[in-house]
Amino acid sequence: MEQKPWRDVIAVQALEKNWVTRVDLGARRLAIYDTPCGVYASLALCNHGGADLCDGYFDGHVIECPLHQGAFDVRDGKPVGAPATRPMRVFEARVKDGMVQIRG
Ligand code: FES
Repeated sequence: MEQKPWRDVIAVQALEKNWVTRVDLGARRLAIYDTPCGVYASLALCNHGGADLCDGYFDGHVIECPLHQGAFDVRDGKPVGAPATRPMRVFEARVKDGMVQIRG
């Protein structure tokens, strides 16, 4: 299967350091996470009740939803705190030439 191309999302310098940054890319709202071990990306809308994860609390590699405090591991999208039960949609992410890029 053909892989989707990498797309520029935001300049690395524009990221909130060790925090989550909201980026609108076309019709999608993304959450970009800056961590000491790299950047990660997910859809910004929580799959539990539609809150914006970018308004949540980010600690290390876990994003906590601002509405009901469900939590997800941003590295693989796994739910790690109730009431979140389904994995969130994550994207492969990398840094190239000063830009955060995602595939997808
Ligand atoms: S909306 Fe995110 S945990 Fe409920």
